[in-house]
Amino acid sequence: MKKSSVYLLLLTAFLSICTPTLAVAQKIAILGAMPEEIQLLESQLKRVRTKNILGFQFKTGKLNGKKVVLTETGIGKVNAAVVTTLIIREFRPQSIIFTGIAGGISENLNQGDIVIGNRLTYHDYGRLTNEGLSTNATRNPITKQLNPVYFSSDSLLVSKAIQASGDIRLLKISSDSPQPKVSVGTIVTGDTFVTSSTAVSLFKKTLQADATEMEGAAVAQVCYQQNIPFLIIRSISDKANEKASVDFQTFKKIASDNSGTLVKEILKKL
Ligand code: ADE
Repeated sequence: MKKSSVYLLLLTAFLSICTPTLAVAQKIAILGAMPEEIQLLESQLKRVRTKNILGFQFKTGKLNGKKVVLTETGIGKVNAAVVTTLIIREFRPQSIIFTGIAGGISENLNQGDIVIGNRLTYHDYGRLTNEGLSTNATRNPITKQLNPVYFSSDSLLVSKAIQASGDIRLLKISSDSPQPKVSVGTIVTGDTFVTSSTAVSLFKKTLQADATEMEGAAVAQVCYQQNIPFLIIRSISDKANEKASVDFQTFKKIASDNSGTLVKEILKKL
């Protein structure tokens, strides 16, 4: 064997032994729909670098010692799906966490409380009949199989979130209001800002919803189809009723920061 071939063989053997230790830790992707929803995390991001892809800004850096890529998706299912797809293609994240705010559907939820979304579905996908919308499962265009009606968040991420919730202090909406609570629940997504107590009752009855928002299930569907573990965290800004538009404006900052606080603590546990 030629001397150069021996060197090449030895180098290959050396590299194959070293590869596990040389492996670069994958980033955790963090998404929020609106600037307020990522503001707390963005302000604490260290060693920030910005990458522009098709006009979207992706910020990489370190948060609580973990490598992350943070971005704003914009509002609604299409924007959420576009950015989720781009982030998977460009950064191959180990997992995706969505942070943001939601309208409370469960009567147990108040402004500032957090819902760890353990399952997500759409409230506006299906068949429109004279009796109203009958919800259907979506179909995976890659496998051609029907998707589950409810997409499940990654169980390890859910348990880390529950653990993390014991180690944080959330902002109260006023000095005389109780300390915000964290619970695990069902989130329903649609391309509508919900300001209707009739819709609240319907989502509760037909979909067992605890909270409603405009991106979660779209992120979940893309992650499900691409086999990426995901988690959706939402804090309540309003109760999706006739007062929702006013409450949303009043409480969006506190709720956004509460969600961000939990996500930051989850990173510590990963
Ligand atoms: N995000 C926050 N509040 C919401 C609501 N009432 N409907 C839809 N998305 C929301």
